[in-house]
Amino acid sequence: MDIISNPTPGEIKKAAKALIDGHLVAFPTETVYGLGADATNEKAVSRIYSVKGRPKDHPLIVHISSINQLEKWAIEIPDYAIKLANEFWPGPMTLILKRSELAKDFITGSQENVGVRVPAHPVALELLSEFEKLGGLGIAAPSANKFGSVSTTTSTAVKDELGNLLNTQDIILEGGQSELGVESTIISCLSYVPKVLRPGAITPSMITRLLGSIVNLVDVESDIKAPGMLLSHYSPKAKVVIGGKTKPGDGFIALAKFPTPIGAIRLAAPETIEQYSFQMYEALRLADRKGLKRIIVLPPSGSEFALAIKDRLTKASFNDFISGV
Ligand code: TXA
Ligand code: MG
Repeated sequence: MDIISNPTPGEIKKAAKALIDGHLVAFPTETVYGLGADATNEKAVSRIYSVKGRPKDHPLIVHISSINQLEKWAIEIPDYAIKLANEFWPGPMTLILKRSELAKDFITGSQENVGVRVPAHPVALELLSEFEKLGGLGIAAPSANKFGSVSTTTSTAVKDELGNLLNTQDIILEGGQSELGVESTIISCLSYVPKVLRPGAITPSMITRLLGSIVNLVDVESDIKAPGMLLSHYSPKAKVVIGGKTKPGDGFIALAKFPTPIGAIRLAAPETIEQYSFQMYEALRLADRKGLKRIIVLPPSGSEFALAIKDRLTKASFNDFISGV
């Protein structure tokens, strides 16, 4: 498995061909790195599940190059979903829609709906357009990390996390550190009003502002299966504790305005919420590289993008309560 740094158009074309041939390609997006496979190739998609160690019934997001491809994957698309797509794609938003015949059970976890997203990273978009030129219809891509573990925001993290499980014909495309650092906002478009299933950079108020009177809810207890919504997820090996007293040797992640407690090891000191999300997963990984046992985190407060950060850190902190996820 090769890491391709600063991929040229020719190298991206080669990666698109590798996908068509049934291999896996990890690629950068503006949120986190994805582990991609041809979304119509059952065998290739099943490798995603085995490499990640992900249970088969957890659905995958299908990535497409533009809204023009949406009707291949989804049917009965409500007007508000089209509005959302026109406004926020390419971007950090996944829409859950009724599936077309193309979205098979091995993509949707046997549900009648499918998640679709147009990512905003130039390498991802070029990969998608080259893939489509070769006859591809969509790239299935979960975050490029082991199931339940911390998402990857750099190609090095992808290699550390999955490198030994990828084979020689799989590819990792390098594209810098993911600009946002937190996964896409997932919006269910299955009823009259949209529902936010996973908070992200497209915030509730951005959605409400666009759609006018239509209200949306953050519904963390949704009954639609989404592993990002399991209580324990996004977890490093170190125990994550929200708030509380630090002991000497604990890791510490908080906004820069909070001083490092005596004896604690500062893992990140972001100045803003955007910096917080950009640095968060790398800081959690750093704790594991340093062999720390515990990380005290102070999530930022707020109901907008801060909500996404708080959501992920809260899920990261559940690893001691639920095992096996
Ligand atoms: O930012 C992102 O969304 C990244 C990049 C690579 O695009 N992808 C990502 O994928 O975070 P993943 O598989 O790690 O998380 C996607 C979440 C999962 O919780 C999955 O269950 C949910 O989306 N999901 C996908 N399809 C769904 C569906 N049909 N219904 C409900 N949830 C779905
Ligand atoms: Mg994930």
